[in-house]
Amino acid sequence: MDSPLSVVVYPDAESAKAGAAEEIASVLRSAASVRGQATIALAGGRTPEGCYRKLAQRHDFAECWDRVKVFWGDERCVSTDAPSSNYRMAKRSLIDEMTGSPAGIYPMLPFEARQRGDFERAAERYAETLRDEITERVNGIPSLDLAILGIGVDGHTASLFPGDPLIGHDKQWVRLVEAPQEYSPRHRLTLTLPLLSSARVVCFLVTGREKRDVVAEVLRCIRSRSTGTYTKQAAPRYPAAGVFARERLIFVLDAACS
Ligand code: 6PG
Repeated sequence: MDSPLSVVVYPDAESAKAGAAEEIASVLRSAASVRGQATIALAGGRTPEGCYRKLAQRHDFAECWDRVKVFWGDERCVSTDAPSSNYRMAKRSLIDEMTGSPAGIYPMLPFEARQRGDFERAAERYAETLRDEITERVNGIPSLDLAILGIGVDGHTASLFPGDPLIGHDKQWVRLVEAPQEYSPRHRLTLTLPLLSSARVVCFLVTGREKRDVVAEVLRCIRSRSTGTYTKQAAPRYPAAGVFARERLIFVLDAACS
């Protein structure tokens, strides 16, 4: 049995971002109350920023913030004050808007790693961080409570792009990748499908007419999957279609892309 899939469509992007914020707060509150901590990997890009701002306004989220550990699903290999930094976007739209501190904040590219420019080592160090800071395991892989993901028009998710030769048989949890040349910056760190698919809940947040076709194809692939686990499937044409979840796979969409 594949991951239980739910697709929620909102009239517009703003209500979709509010709906995703509600889902995030609900999953993390539940995890924090059951296990005393809640772990989340944040998505980058443009779409989630509005969702994070709405999340920061939610009282039900504020109540569990001190038990939340914040990770990232991917990060561009830039400084944390660069406009393209996913860390910077989440810090400004969520972390700095919250009262008090979370249980932990784990950027993919801390200062010393960036200074050294040794991004391969940074990927290894992040895998060690996931191992040390996430107590839940699935087949030896750290299991996040929640992973937030977006989808690019080419079907990429996190920084896993179509044509990536390791997709479908990744053994690493975190990788340095070089994005296709139309993406800048090209060097990024990304969580891999085995790690993402070990999450209890995965929530895709996607909006915009330009993504309608890719969302339809990704959902078609997911609905046609016969297996319930990542390891038993061939490399999907679209990396987003290769994501599983242990408990729930949620697509939060606006009407324009559904
Ligand atoms: C990134 C994201 C990436 C993003 C998609 C969609 O670092 O860019 O992790 O996977 O989710 O590219 O981006 P938009 O939300 O900007 O359309």
